[in-house]
Amino acid sequence: MKIAIGADHAGVELKDHLADMLRRQGHEIADQGTHGTDSVDYPDFAAKVARSVASGEVERGVLVCGTGLGVAIAANKVDGVRAATCNDLFTAEMCRAHNDANVLTLGARVVGIGVAEEIVRIFVATDFEGGRHERRRDKIHALES
Ligand code: RB5
Repeated sequence: MKIAIGADHAGVELKDHLADMLRRQGHEIADQGTHGTDSVDYPDFAAKVARSVASGEVERGVLVCGTGLGVAIAANKVDGVRAATCNDLFTAEMCRAHNDANVLTLGARVVGIGVAEEIVRIFVATDFEGGRHERRRDKIHALES
């Protein structure tokens, strides 16, 4: 799967770790920064990943900041993006199965590396259930216009 990944300074270490993990699993990763620990503004990186997903250039996105919240709020401003903050395994599964989330956001100051790895694995592996959830997803997108 083609996956775009991005982070701010608070999330860069976890982002780099998850990018390596996904590459080892055979995914094609578009790393959209940041690439160091200098302080940056998370909306800039959320926008890059969100636009890659919205344009269809990649299938999914992963964003990391301190809490996972700022990048989610920013990414959800881009039409076509359904970003979900998941700092536990249940919501990682549900955001795909019920909400068809196309961007996962994580808080590097909230979850440890092991939990983050498992959240990403579930996010990538879980299919959207469709059916009644498709109608609801479509109503979310109707709010965009
Ligand atoms: C940066 O200090 C922090 O505010 C940011 O990473 C994120 O948690 C915002 O939502």
